Amino acid sequence: MDTVLLTGAASGIGRATARRLASQGHRCILVDRNEQALQALRTELPVSAGQDHRVCVADLTDVDQIAALPDGMPKLDALINNAGMTDSSNRATVDLDPDDWQRLLDLNLRAPARMVDALRARLVRGARVVNVASGAGLRAIPWRGGYSPSKAGLIAQSRALAQADAELCVIVLCPGYVRTELVAGLIASGRLDPARAVAKIPLGRLADPEELACALAFMASGDAVPMAGSLLCVDGGSSVYGGSQTYAPADGDTRAPSDTPLSLTVRGEWPAPDDDGTSGDQHGGYHAVLDATALSSPPGQRLAAVLEAARRFDIDGPGSLTVLLPGGENLAWEHAGDHAAARMLVASLACEWGPAARRINAVEVAPGMTPDALAPLLRFAAGAQAQYLTGQVLCRR
Ligand code: NAI
Repeated sequence: MDTVLLTGAASGIGRATARRLASQGHRCILVDRNEQALQALRTELPVSAGQDHRVCVADLTDVDQIAALPDGMPKLDALINNAGMTDSSNRATVDLDPDDWQRLLDLNLRAPARMVDALRARLVRGARVVNVASGAGLRAIPWRGGYSPSKAGLIAQSRALAQADAELCVIVLCPGYVRTELVAGLIASGRLDPARAVAKIPLGRLADPEELACALAFMASGDAVPMAGSLLCVDGGSSVYGGSQTYAPADGDTRAPSDTPLSLTVRGEWPAPDDDGTSGDQHGGYHAVLDATALSSPPGQRLAAVLEAARRFDIDGPGSLTVLLPGGENLAWEHAGDHAAARMLVASLACEWGPAARRINAVEVAPGMTPDALAPLLRFAAGAQAQYLTGQVLCRR
């Protein structure tokens, strides 16, 4: 049982994450400025081992309220900085009210840093710090004031923290569009047309909050350590898509329940990551292939190895291919292009396969990473909990 502090817990992604963490037996410290919604959430969460969840009402744009949070705070195994806001005022950025501009920057960029500073002494050695940024931090979304700059800043700040404090496992999450109150507000204000958003998402749909909750619960767990210092886009492939054709909305029934057991086939020299007994040939399971053949391919042959793995991937309907690639090597310059090409092939295939809900991701295996240490990550990426994850190379710094 871990103790996890989660900000922005009263709504959307945060509320779904609190429900998932509590259902997994963890104790939640729920932080938000919306007291009523927080209290309602706490009463519905299951309690494990008599350790009740705790509510902290705080406006995270207020330095003093953050500074007061450590009072009486238990030791924390993970801190999830999820609270965030966007700008739906519809005004040109240079015309924004300076107070509104500052408030958004304070919440999205300054608060995650202030939370780490204030709570550093409460974080256990190896604690996970998960910062929720956005795809908007990777590519500019205009007419949303400081939103994209704040999220780009949060990505860079997270990477810098990972370098500066090796005792923490810092990971940054970039969600794509998720059906939450925040997105409902954008749709209501005319800032987001859901049909046009879906047209640029290879998987052809927006995410449900529960899908981001699955990712955050995994990233907040000790199993996420191989991802320390990295960035994870859970966005239906939108961040890797650069084409000009539009995607049609996906059929409603392409998504399996997130607790669907994994039906996994392993190809190449790699032990099956089946620690909890739910892998293997499960009838009615979520079909997945873990292909390790590229791991033994010589430098210069990775692109060809990924293409071969894709050709062997014989699942027609929803399912996933996870390719293992060597990572952390000092490649001779002649081979650097081949390795980058292999990663881009993963992204390109994700864009082609998305409409059929077929996913592909790669995991880079650095020297010294053991199959046991990677097993939970591989199960997560391959399985039904990660159905909005495609086109990504995981573990890259
Ligand atoms: P939401 O609007 O549904 O929930 C945000 C929560 O933060 C609310 O409970 C709100 O009360 C709380 N909050 C707002 N200002 C606060 C403050 N000053 N102090 C304390 N709490 C405050 O948002 P959603 O969609 O769940 O987003 C969560 C995170 O995910 C945000 O950081 C957002 O930028 C990010 N994100 C969301 C995406 C989406 O499509 N919904 C896409 C990409 C990123």
